Amino acid sequence: MSALPQAPASIASFADVQQLAMADMAAVDALIRSRLASDVVLINQIAEHIIGGGGKRLRPMLHVLAARAAGYTGNQHAQLAAVIEFIHTSTLLHDDVVDESDLRRGRKTANAMWGNAASVLVGDFLYSRSFQMMVELDSMRIMRILADTTNRIAEGEVLQLLNIGNPDTTQHAYLEVIERKTAVLFAAATRLGAVLAGLPREQEDALARYGLDLGFAFQIADDVLDYASDADTLGKNIGDDLAEGKPTLPLILAIERSSAAQADLLKQAVRNGGREALPEVLAAIHVTDALATSRAHAHGYADSARAALRTLPTSPARDALALLADYAIDRSR
Ligand code: IPE
Ligand code: IPE
Ligand code: MG
Ligand code: MG
Repeated sequence: MSALPQAPASIASFADVQQLAMADMAAVDALIRSRLASDVVLINQIAEHIIGGGGKRLRPMLHVLAARAAGYTGNQHAQLAAVIEFIHTSTLLHDDVVDESDLRRGRKTANAMWGNAASVLVGDFLYSRSFQMMVELDSMRIMRILADTTNRIAEGEVLQLLNIGNPDTTQHAYLEVIERKTAVLFAAATRLGAVLAGLPREQEDALARYGLDLGFAFQIADDVLDYASDADTLGKNIGDDLAEGKPTLPLILAIERSSAAQADLLKQAVRNGGREALPEVLAAIHVTDALATSRAHAHGYADSARAALRTLPTSPARDALALLADYAIDRSR
């Protein structure tokens, strides 16, 4: 009896995508586990807490599928996928400190359990571990892409900080933030699949475009879920963005579309932060249809991501990438 999962005949659901990527993702998971290790106990505890909390592993999955869609047959993609997930995880540890969040992946955040200092420092550990692992691949091109990407992410986080409490943040400024804080890592994940496979530059750029647009769609969907979901489903508290005074697309649209008096109230809520005004903000977001419009924006980016895949030859992995464009915005968590 073979224990190996069979490739699904066609890719029609997220479960099919998972099945297609299963062997690769098992290798990625084994690497993530083995490379977390440190002889400093607190590092193991915190790293295990956040990694063991699960997470969708979407970025590593995008990387391995992009590599396969690009025709890659080697095994360096597992290591790069682990690198990408470590970078992502370190940004989450830092993000929860900055956002003062206390729930992630259905668990108390590391900062809620061990404090800000420990979270930031273990985030740095994961971040630098990812650099140790990427250096092992011995490719200047790969290191350049990831060095540039992580630098852009840091810029995005600082840009976002500058918008905190600013109710006049424009859609343009919002998009600039989410491109850097989120989309560029998705773009790197998919570009690196093409790089491993040695695709011509035009196809490499198309896969990067796919990742970038998917990243925009994904973050807009995340910002919708912050107003539209609940903690049990999402594994994170809702209303975190308002509490932090973070003007995301739903709130920006609601402000734009409200009467002057209503807009003043919303703007004050952004300036003040906190959760007191959440009921009024939710009502305004509802009345102005801001969630539906935000979802429409996300769909637009997902469509454009899917369109970018056309330059690649058809394959189950390409179909899986196309399906993930829908998953990124239709997910409940
Ligand atoms: C959370 O990312 C951070 C954002 C960019 C919105 P994910 O929603 O991919 O987090 P996990 O890894 O699945 O927990
Ligand atoms: C994503 O923004 C931040 C990162 C890219 C790390 P959010 O602050 O919205 O992410 P969540 O909602 O806390 O996961
Ligand atoms: Mg956050
Ligand atoms: Mg969020």
